[in-house]
Amino acid sequence: MIKAVYPGSFDPITKGHLDIIRRCSYVFDEVTVAVLNNPNKTGWFSPEERVSQIEKVVSALPNVKVKSFTGLLVDFMDEEGSDVIIKGLRSTSDFDYECPMALINKKLNKSKETMFMMSNSKYSYLSSTAVKQVALFKGCLQGLIPSELEFEVRERAKKYEGEI
Ligand code: PNS
Repeated sequence: MIKAVYPGSFDPITKGHLDIIRRCSYVFDEVTVAVLNNPNKTGWFSPEERVSQIEKVVSALPNVKVKSFTGLLVDFMDEEGSDVIIKGLRSTSDFDYECPMALINKKLNKSKETMFMMSNSKYSYLSSTAVKQVALFKGCLQGLIPSELEFEVRERAKKYEGEI
């Protein structure tokens, strides 16, 4: 039984993230999407809202669960009984960002392996930051985030319009 953890901020989840989760669910026996709860960095959505958004869009994948975590990823993984970290790579700049993180996680706990999955080329330009910009300026969100979440993201954008 190989359990993988797919960690991230997911503020909000994009179609690129969802594509990685779906492909991981075919490769691993169990996948836990781990939403970082960082009290020092608030996003558009609370960790609880992000978990519920992700649960909504992975409901058809029976071996995927969603949790939030605080503190070190490797400690959360111990609680989950998982040794595999999945990271999606869109570009070499993602690799530059991810490489030190993989090495720190290895240093913290040598039983943890980071495995990289190439993002689907359809979504190689996509990020949660870009989604928020598009929503803020009322652009079309179709194809960027799961359609079930479009209303929620548009509504939340209204709260930040004054800050443009
Ligand atoms: O989607 P993101 O913001 O790139 O995800 C970053 C994340 C959540 C994977 C990373 O910040 C993380 O693992 N945070 C938990 C704290 C930790 O374990 N840090 C040690 C590795 S740098």
